[in-house]
Amino acid sequence: MIAIRADLLDFTATPAWQGTGLDGVRFRPDHWLLVGRDGRILGAQAEDPGPDFERHDHRGRLLLPGFIDTHVHCPQLEVLASYGTGLLDWLDTYTFPSELRYADPDVAADGAARFLDALLAHGTTAAVAFPTVHRVAAEALFAAAAQRGMRLVTGKVLMDRHAPEGLRDDVQGAERDCEALIARWHGQGRNSYAVTVRFAVTSTPAQLAMAGALGRRHAGLYMQTHVAENVDEVRWVAELFPEARSYLDVYHRHGLLHERAVLAHGIWLDAHDRALLRDTGAQIAFCPTSNLFLGSGLFDWQAAIDSGHRVSLASDVGGGTSLSMLRTLAEGYKVQALRGTRLNAWVALHAATRGAAEGLNLAHEIGHLDAGALADVVVWDWASGAVAAQRDAAARGALPGVAAQPLHARVFAWMLLGDERNVAATYVAGRPSHQRATAS
Ligand code: GUN
Ligand code: ZN
Repeated sequence: MIAIRADLLDFTATPAWQGTGLDGVRFRPDHWLLVGRDGRILGAQAEDPGPDFERHDHRGRLLLPGFIDTHVHCPQLEVLASYGTGLLDWLDTYTFPSELRYADPDVAADGAARFLDALLAHGTTAAVAFPTVHRVAAEALFAAAAQRGMRLVTGKVLMDRHAPEGLRDDVQGAERDCEALIARWHGQGRNSYAVTVRFAVTSTPAQLAMAGALGRRHAGLYMQTHVAENVDEVRWVAELFPEARSYLDVYHRHGLLHERAVLAHGIWLDAHDRALLRDTGAQIAFCPTSNLFLGSGLFDWQAAIDSGHRVSLASDVGGGTSLSMLRTLAEGYKVQALRGTRLNAWVALHAATRGAAEGLNLAHEIGHLDAGALADVVVWDWASGAVAAQRDAAARGALPGVAAQPLHARVFAWMLLGDERNVAATYVAGRPSHQRATAS
């Protein structure tokens, strides 16, 4: 059994959008998080845990549940920060050529290992991820997650048109591959299968129908895709599916919207679409670094709140520019500022932890520090580098003549200034899975 000493921060309920009040926020400064031999959280206490526990003393650091990145592409680390294009050109110029390499099982295995280790090093312990169209790439990702004991939701990418040779499947072959992967991996350990439609552009109506049928045939499957990211894409989808009311409706018509559906972006939606998301329980993964980098648009979170549909946060690497969920949240704040509203740290951090877990029906397992949850947790430095340290000292009231600020101010500054350099240690089911090489 282990006990980790740190300032413990998690959420017991959804924080308010307005203001920075502490409703739903659970902050336990300088506590021990107790973890049992089965990797589950036993509880937390201020008192010394005694000799039965192996002590991991991170006093003065911050501990949160591991972040959940609800939309990220494993094979796109290689195209991060590629210059000069919007979505459709970016796919053709950089992404598709790079994804071709993942037909090779060695490339797929290497890529999966590098990707998951990078997530852990960035403080992310669970993900809803895209591999490529190749069955071996999905296989490699599931296997690498199982090896690490990580919670992963993924599935072979479906794309049978509008993609280059070598990146296209066909309806029957894709169905066979999906069935084999579901039989092998869905519900194995902490892996779950997601029916993975790349986007409406790259699947024929027949393939979308097959995808919908798969979801009905097997209990507990997820669905992941992209929706309404970019205006040119939205126009193209309208041409390809003239019978659909909207881009989102293409997925609805094929039975792909349900409470385990995660749709990335959702920038160019209308009120009907948002009501449909709410009524089906599907969620939007807001991907701010990607939306800014590709120039896709500014996601309207306030409209999501007003209509009552779920929102989680995602890196969307490699359209996004960092695997760091702190950077993602910081850019999310700025996107919302451009929309004329303010995203408080509680809403943002909740959406990347307990909120995401609830949206994925995984709140029994991850996203918080309740007893019984698996101890997927990350220990963070409150500050990395002299400038952030000075800002943190001001928040704590540790500078002469500067009064201590409310907790939100300190956490918000950490969220805006932090990144993977702040990660001191990552635990997966109570096992140390990443340790910073050098102390700061
Ligand atoms: N739409 C279809 N494929 C992709 C992708 O790989 N990244 C992003 N951001 N959007 C997409
Ligand atoms: Zn994406």
